[in-house]
Amino acid sequence: MVQWVQRRSTREPVHLDELETTFGIGSMRDNWNNLASENAMHHIASEETNWEERDFFASGERDITRHLDPVLERLHFSLQGKKLLEIGCGVGRLSFNLAKRFPEVDALDISPEMIKRAIEYQERFCVSNVRFHIGSGKDLAGFGNDEFDFCFSYIVFQHIPSVNLIFDYVREIGRVLKPGGMFLFQVNGFRHLRLPGSRYVMLGMRDAGRLRKWGIWRRPFLRIGRLDFVSGAPVKRLAMLRVCESARLDIKEIIGDHSQYLWFAGQKMYP
Ligand SMILES: C[S@@+](CC[C@H](N)C(=O)[O-])C[C@H]1O[C@@H](n2cnc3c(N)ncnc32)[C@H](O)[C@@H]1O
Repeated sequence: MVQWVQRRSTREPVHLDELETTFGIGSMRDNWNNLASENAMHHIASEETNWEERDFFASGERDITRHLDPVLERLHFSLQGKKLLEIGCGVGRLSFNLAKRFPEVDALDISPEMIKRAIEYQERFCVSNVRFHIGSGKDLAGFGNDEFDFCFSYIVFQHIPSVNLIFDYVREIGRVLKPGGMFLFQVNGFRHLRLPGSRYVMLGMRDAGRLRKWGIWRRPFLRIGRLDFVSGAPVKRLAMLRVCESARLDIKEIIGDHSQYLWFAGQKMYP
């Protein structure tokens, strides 16, 4: 199916297949490099404009406690000796907190500017069990087959405007996970409708942003617009189930249907 995304700078439509070419990935990388240089912490966690460093990393711990820990517990996942891969790590807001749980963490991001900052924090915080990597933006090249015990990603795929690219990442998760290894990742799961041209209607529940301060985590959301590097492609649950099955990923839990936070958790099948 042909889909279109609006190029932010020129408002000129860009064929989504371009995202699979060097040019498309290059624009995505430029976009995140610019956001990192402008105000990395805000563009990673938008509920604050001027984050205090301590609060920013504490927000990462809160997110891990809220989203990952209960899944680890329900899936009876033992952390001992385990190696985790984080996709889309930004400046390490989650990575350093993941490294408190997992003995070994590899964390990759499309943006060299984000990774540069992540490594600076790593040196300052003296964290030795995380390795940061600049990724291709479209796959997990550089990592071996059956290398990881856990793959994790949060607020990354929701920004990718190509469903095919998101599915490619999921197939890659199937490749790099060990048989029996587990995964938890989040995508944009809004209900949606394609309109003529490049427009979409999306509706569902989304992050409350600044309202979080008052204990409100979600708010209703309706958007009629075009996809870009912030408003990524919504993903249909059924399509994801099919891709996971083809990648030998057995889905054990689906959380947050029809919201900005649609999570898939599960395990790579044994041969
Ligand atoms: C909103 S930030 C979230 C960072 C981190 N997950 C967190 O919660 O702190 C999104 C991150 O995804 C990265 N990203 C966007 N598209 C990507 C892609 N195609 N491949 C890898 N990383 C990507 C961006 O560079 C950015 O650092």
